Amino acid sequence: MTEQLQFPPGFWWGTATAAYQIEGAAKEDGRGPSVWDTFSHTEGKIERDENGDVACDHYHRYREDVALMAELGLNAYRFSISWSRVQPTGSGAVNPAGIDFYTRLVEELLARGITPVPTLFHWDLPQGLEDAGGWLSRDTSQRFADFATIMAEALGDRVPAWITLNEAFVHATLGYGIGMHAPGHALIGGSFAATHHLLLGHGLAVQALRSSLPSTGRVGITNNVATARPATDSDADRAAAAAFETLQVDTYNDPIFLGSYPDLSGVLPGIDMSVVRDGDLAITSEPIDFLGVNYYSPNYVAAAPPDVPVPFLPAVPEGYPLTEMGWPVIPEGFTEILLAMKERYGDKLPPIYITENGAAFPDEVGVDGSIDDAQRIAYIESHLHAVKDAIDAGVDIRGYFVWSLLDNFEWAYGYRPRFGLIRVDFESMERTPKRSAYWYRDLIRSQNGG
Ligand code: GCO
Repeated sequence: MTEQLQFPPGFWWGTATAAYQIEGAAKEDGRGPSVWDTFSHTEGKIERDENGDVACDHYHRYREDVALMAELGLNAYRFSISWSRVQPTGSGAVNPAGIDFYTRLVEELLARGITPVPTLFHWDLPQGLEDAGGWLSRDTSQRFADFATIMAEALGDRVPAWITLNEAFVHATLGYGIGMHAPGHALIGGSFAATHHLLLGHGLAVQALRSSLPSTGRVGITNNVATARPATDSDADRAAAAAFETLQVDTYNDPIFLGSYPDLSGVLPGIDMSVVRDGDLAITSEPIDFLGVNYYSPNYVAAAPPDVPVPFLPAVPEGYPLTEMGWPVIPEGFTEILLAMKERYGDKLPPIYITENGAAFPDEVGVDGSIDDAQRIAYIESHLHAVKDAIDAGVDIRGYFVWSLLDNFEWAYGYRPRFGLIRVDFESMERTPKRSAYWYRDLIRSQNGG
């Protein structure tokens, strides 16, 4: 089966991580607090009240982690930059130790032939900016562009590809809509202000990066996309699924590729579009060089009963295996959404990198210490076939990053779900590649182009 998995020459084979999920060193070398520090230290927000203070201690162990990536033969690595490590309050003075850490990381990657692909915002807004309104405030968009300029000036000569935002949908929805993620606001439709300011911040950051990067620098955004499937055939569930897909997919891609928002009436109560000013959609639709796509599973959606403040609720379909997250394993849903994106945006859709795909399973450590994570291998293999099917059907896809390199801090779920190709013992910090890591290494080696 694996023999057929040949990808185009020059394909990027990577893994992805995010700063708050792996770095630790939360109070070291001048790092300021982010909304995730505040949220995870608020009782009852995270399973077992866990937090990212230490996480995988990657801040101190990055050399070992890059060496592991090199052993797997990766040629690209997606990570995120902790804004509050670089600008402790989110604006003003730069913390040189923060720039220094990312410089050392980038140098280490380049020395091993691994292309660094940083994300500028993976949900960890400096607390100083949250105190001034966070993404509900239009000013944050401009602060984000300033931060992009700082990073481009520091590393633009060595970093060829930049991702502005990670999953603005999840950040706005869970962070500002229902309060399950930091900063913990439950504003329902009021979260649209955060949505728009995130997208505006993306556009302003694209402009800022363009003016600071060398002409070869490439800029994109990562969105999580999936089709929404109705839980049952009822009209109500169908309408709920359609509304959910509009909210997740179209709301975060139309402003980028079409320069407009979809019709959001009825999608969430209380959406007030007056935050969108003349000229904003010309900024959000600033041309980009690539789209990062994160995919885990289709969303099954049911109509919510009237006493629930949102029109839809998640549902679990029958007949599919589920991951530790409770997400159904449906690889053909991956091909389906990639083709749907191509259909909706046509020539406006730039080349795609799969910037996240992977699965959490309750790994068992064998008596000899090995981890035979056959379910994760099956997940990744079947999803790579789905990506290949999309390429064969004409979608321009140029790379694939497994989520994740390491077991890490899975947000509200703490350290329970393990997504890594590499196991982390959170007591000793010992790293142990799982069988999936070796499987991925062998797949990369088997590529004719590489
Ligand atoms: C995401 C996130 C990751 C999660 C992963 C698994 O962008 O949703 O980038 O941080 O850990 O998706 O839930």
